[in-house]
Amino acid sequence: MTQATLSQDQLKEAVAAAAIDEVRPHLHRDSVLGIGTGSTANRFIDRLAELRHDFAGAVASSEASAERLRSHGIEVFELNSVGTVPVYVDGADEVNAHLHMIKGGGAALTREKIVAACAERFICIADGSKKVERLGAFPLPVEVIPMARSYVARELVKLGADPVYREGVVTDNGNQIIDCYDFMIDDPLAMEARLNAIVGVVTNGLFAARGADVLLLGTAGGVERLTPA
Ligand code: 5RP
Repeated sequence: MTQATLSQDQLKEAVAAAAIDEVRPHLHRDSVLGIGTGSTANRFIDRLAELRHDFAGAVASSEASAERLRSHGIEVFELNSVGTVPVYVDGADEVNAHLHMIKGGGAALTREKIVAACAERFICIADGSKKVERLGAFPLPVEVIPMARSYVARELVKLGADPVYREGVVTDNGNQIIDCYDFMIDDPLAMEARLNAIVGVVTNGLFAARGADVLLLGTAGGVERLTPA
């Protein structure tokens, strides 16, 4: 198979492997790593399993990732008992040149944002399809307190979004998700703050105030290592 025919799955495998090299300097017997959620993060977890004796354990951004880590014999710590993590590795639904992201396709955005806030370094791993000029073609997830769902949806309409309730999904925090369609974002930093100011919003999926420090992007030509423009 030539590089040009690499599938999205193969690109995810490639960036997961590259992320192992990126975190290797942070592995020692006391280190606790931050681990994200999703199919790309899962590949990273599976590779990390081979190194499980080289570090203390991990903090996970979802119950699903915690379960996967434990299944590999990696100890999962409570974030409150750890404080900061030296490095957080996670995927993204979209990422721009400033390494601002849309996340939350897997409904884990709140815990992802909390672990990212406690990370000294955020390494985003993504296949090439996730890199965009302007954020917003992927519907922006917003986690809401259930009783505020209709109110928040009306406020999102005022901002120009087409909000759609993600039916049947309950987050790890017991909340609900609204996805904002037709919502192209010119100023991710300002919009992240604007959305957070709506009463009833727990988190929105814009990761601009705390973007990634490094993007490992899987492309047909290999894994590109990008830093914020
Ligand atoms: C989950 C996320 C994921 O990082 C994002 O959805 C990317 O997932 P995948 O690696 O499966 O493409 O934010 O809430």
